[in-house]
Amino acid sequence: MTIPQPAFYMFKCEQSSPPGMPKPSCVNNETKDLYGHLGMKLMEKGLIATVVPVRTACLNRCQQGPVMLVEPGHYMYVNNKKKKIDRIIDEHIIGEKPVEEYLIDEEFWGKPMTPEEAMKMVGR
Ligand code: FES
Repeated sequence: MTIPQPAFYMFKCEQSSPPGMPKPSCVNNETKDLYGHLGMKLMEKGLIATVVPVRTACLNRCQQGPVMLVEPGHYMYVNNKKKKIDRIIDEHIIGEKPVEEYLIDEEFWGKPMTPEEAMKMVGR
């Protein structure tokens, strides 16, 4: 018998900037309980054995925070709120149909660079 791999990972940015920093952050007084909400909903739905919620540092899309990346597939959800997270779980995770209207705009989420392209860009 084998232990099954998780079906999904949900990476929730948990970066919080100190007050006065020009860069926005994904965690503030209004949004600080989103990760807890995500974990609780996954437990309530009986999904925690196959969906792994992960706290991350900055995912480099701060202006559209709070952000959450769902893998597999590189699905970047922006401006998250509790109701959005509930719908992402119901439709994307359970229904296997990403919630298009909550995804980041394509102009901010272009095709990834290959490692070779990235190294070339910095002269390596
Ligand atoms: S602080 Fe969350 S994406 Fe940068």
